[in-house]
Amino acid sequence: AKKHKVTIVGSGNWGSTISKIVAENTRLHKDVFEEQVQMWVYEEDVAIPSSSKHFKGNDKPQKLTSIINTHHENVKYLPGITLPSNIVANPSLIDAVRDSTILVFNLPHQFIGKVCDQIRGKILPYARGISCIKGVNVSDDGVSLFSEWIGDGLDIYVGALSGANIANEIAAEKWSETTIAYDPPAMDSRAPSPRSGSPQPLFTVTEVPDAFHRDARGRKSRTKLTGVPSEYPPLDHDCFRTLFHRPYFHVQMVSDVAGVSLGGALKNIVALAAGFVDGRGWGDNAKAAIMRIGLMEMVRFGKEFFGETVQSATFTESSAGVADLITSCSGGRNFRCAKKAVEKGITVDQVEQQDLNGQKLQGTTTAYEVNSFLKARGLEKDYPLFTAVNDILKGTRKVDDIPQLVAAVDDE
Ligand code: NAD
Ligand code: 13P
Repeated sequence: AKKHKVTIVGSGNWGSTISKIVAENTRLHKDVFEEQVQMWVYEEDVAIPSSSKHFKGNDKPQKLTSIINTHHENVKYLPGITLPSNIVANPSLIDAVRDSTILVFNLPHQFIGKVCDQIRGKILPYARGISCIKGVNVSDDGVSLFSEWIGDGLDIYVGALSGANIANEIAAEKWSETTIAYDPPAMDSRAPSPRSGSPQPLFTVTEVPDAFHRDARGRKSRTKLTGVPSEYPPLDHDCFRTLFHRPYFHVQMVSDVAGVSLGGALKNIVALAAGFVDGRGWGDNAKAAIMRIGLMEMVRFGKEFFGETVQSATFTESSAGVADLITSCSGGRNFRCAKKAVEKGITVDQVEQQDLNGQKLQGTTTAYEVNSFLKARGLEKDYPLFTAVNDILKGTRKVDDIPQLVAAVDDE
């Protein structure tokens, strides 16, 4: 039997953390996965910081891949955390994805388009993906999830992983939960795994060219899928739980790809608003009000544009919904940068540049993208908090305007 080869496309703060989790599990489950995990690194020259245990007094910049492969640490994006030695940092994207059956997309959403352009036609036709990206893709056609957009571009099926997952806490192996949404095409179906019943596959499909399935909105997908050959272990919920679940990282498997993806994207807009009001010193009640209103707008957005499939419970009950909203409004980077921007009287972009050492915020671009989508449809007024965040970032509104802008009743 063949084993699944796994590639992590991305190696930032979360990309490196997910690589650690996955590599710990491929080491434990050598019957299912190849032990070695490829991690694509956007190559850059990095000087080992003097605070690092690997600093030798010679701070000449070196290739980041070489530092990671020598010291098993991403000293720039996940400093202080030892990575498993079965992670191979690879600067060649095409080489890193070659022959992998599982592709985990984990990089800031602004870079994914170029990555997909480069690997189109260079991956196994029956590969399957998981998107850990928190953002939405807005184009003239409307709004799409990164899972569906990557899937359409590469002609593979892609699910989503999202949750209350501040990377540094998980890298330090502090307990958290996550939600993985995976709703595989029928051609991937097998009998229940031996653990839960018959070891015999119901049916196996070695190759089904031009087969269709339902996308995350319940429509007939445009993606032309190829079935996973039956020599591989089934790529089902059990397989993905085995790949991602750790004692400190508890996985809940669901099928609502749209809800999970939207939760992770839209909460970043709300986290900026929470940072704005905290930066004004308005306290916990104001922040709770932002979270309440933000959650309502998230549910409304899901129902309005992905209503065929999205479940409100994904927003209100899963780690990818309300739990991620709470953690992001407490200690996420979007929250922290927005708060500091208000306190210092500078822009969020300036704080991102000064404080994040190359890490990227997703909330600012998501706020602009969602706003352009809503504006084009005349719907800005239905989403007053999302609209306020966009306007504050652009300087046309002030933080002090928020209570009035989101007021359910006019108190004048
Ligand atoms: P990050 O914020 O650490 O971003 C830095 C990464 O971007 C680095 O790997 C860098 O090499 C890469 N990069 C910079 N320029 C690039 C370019 N031109 N092309 C390609 N890559 C380039 O990234 P992250 O924290 O790993 O976030 C990835 C995704 O995961 C985001 O959508 C984020 O919202 C989500 N996420 C992050 C966290 C977290 O706590 N960091 C938690 C959950 C989800
Ligand atoms: P930030 O990108 O705002 O740090 O949010 C991290 C996150 O997604 C926590 O779940």
